[in-house]
Amino acid sequence: MAENLITLDLNQPWSERCFCVAPLIVVGTKEANGEYNLAPKHMAMPLGWSNYFGFVCTPRHRTYQNIDRERAFTVSFPSPDEVILASLAAAPRDCSDTKPSLAALPTQPASIIDGVFLQGAYLNLECELQQIIDGFGENSLIAGKILAVQVTESALRLSDLDDQDLLLQSPLLAYLSPGRYAKIAESYSFPFPEGFHQ
Ligand SMILES: Cc1cc2nc3c(=O)[nH]c(=O)nc-3n(C[C@H](O)[C@H](O)[C@H](O)COP(=O)(O)O)c2cc1C
Repeated sequence: MAENLITLDLNQPWSERCFCVAPLIVVGTKEANGEYNLAPKHMAMPLGWSNYFGFVCTPRHRTYQNIDRERAFTVSFPSPDEVILASLAAAPRDCSDTKPSLAALPTQPASIIDGVFLQGAYLNLECELQQIIDGFGENSLIAGKILAVQVTESALRLSDLDDQDLLLQSPLLAYLSPGRYAKIAESYSFPFPEGFHQ
């Protein structure tokens, strides 16, 4: 027998009433004063099968304002070992409107755009702004065109390495919204239906 379904009150945030799995990325942008900003985002995904990537951000965040001005951003995918670093990137700004926690975050320069990555991330994207779509309540979708991608050797899929072993050796970080995270090492081949094409 199917389990009872509970209808939620949409006047309350539905996304706080059950868990949803998401990636956890760190978006890098250039500030107006020439410094670099990093901020974690979990509402993020590839936009289609080609070279586009998007994430949700509010215009109140410096990340949005920087991208709107500079028209470029980086995306770092931290591994589970870097979850604290990703969290520190969300520490509040002080009275001079800077994030002191950023000084503790190791970074490395991007190769094509003027930006930085979180050091230690297993996947790095360099994006130019494609489009900002406002109007999802107080949030917006920021869509970038990917200009360059770097993957660490230990995260790179190889024809002579089993995907299951790859993930056992280099587990992925997942954000379990709201407020939890997971280290994903155990995985299974997806049971695609026979004759399935992308
Ligand atoms: C785990 C985690 C996930 C987050 N995901 C998002 C997100 O998907 N979209 C968003 O706008 N803010 C998200 N935030 C909040 C901002 O990234 C954060 O407040 C950031 O410090 C804003 O900084 P900025 O003003 O420098 O852009 C998240 C914060 C944390 C800790």
